Amino acid sequence: VFTGEATFMKGVVDIAGLPPADLGEFAFAGRSNVGKSSLLNALMNRRGLARTSNTPGRTQEVNFFDIGGRFRLVDLPGYGYARASRSKVDAWTDLIFDYLTGRPNLLRVFLLVDSRHGLKPVDEEAMALLDEAAVSYQIVLTKTDKIKETGVTFRLNEVGEALAKRPAAHPEVLATSSEKKHGLDTVRSKMLEALEG
Ligand code: GTP
Ligand code: MG
Repeated sequence: VFTGEATFMKGVVDIAGLPPADLGEFAFAGRSNVGKSSLLNALMNRRGLARTSNTPGRTQEVNFFDIGGRFRLVDLPGYGYARASRSKVDAWTDLIFDYLTGRPNLLRVFLLVDSRHGLKPVDEEAMALLDEAAVSYQIVLTKTDKIKETGVTFRLNEVGEALAKRPAAHPEVLATSSEKKHGLDTVRSKMLEALEG
């Protein structure tokens, strides 16, 4: 599946624009600049499929990618981009919240966390929203190429412990580097698992 055809479907700015809920979807959520678009590209082995950037706030629409007609990947705008004093999830628009909490074909949300920084208060807020809405999510650490292996282990444990009190969180935390293509097969296998389950 992951070597098949991946195509950009559409960028959506309001609920009315959402594609029909007729195919399973996996969404990539997380703070601005955490590496959502990069992970999507790395998983599909397609540089430039989703646009990435050094500047936080690159992805501004909810972008849908069709994967060989089998499922979709959904690249979300980031939250927590500290514009002035508002570094809150309320900057995460209603559209994203409505999408995440009201989408019957959403198979899993991958909530990305920078392995260098760990969970930030805005991540906790995002998790609280997902917990409340009972939307299942799995934490994926990103950019592990930027820290030592011992740092990755530390982070995996730290985040894993924090998830114990999070009802909608998948207990297993994944570690990835889109740059070095590490941990991608594990994410892919989670997706296949969810598709078949
Ligand atoms: P927004 O769309 O702005 O919310 O950001 P995003 O989460 O989609 O991040 P994006 O994929 O655009 O990546 C942000 C920056 O991080 C880019 O400069 C990427 O090259 C870099 N980056 C992403 N993944 C990795 C990684 O695994 N390792 C390293 N070293 N850099 C990465
Ligand atoms: Mg992006």
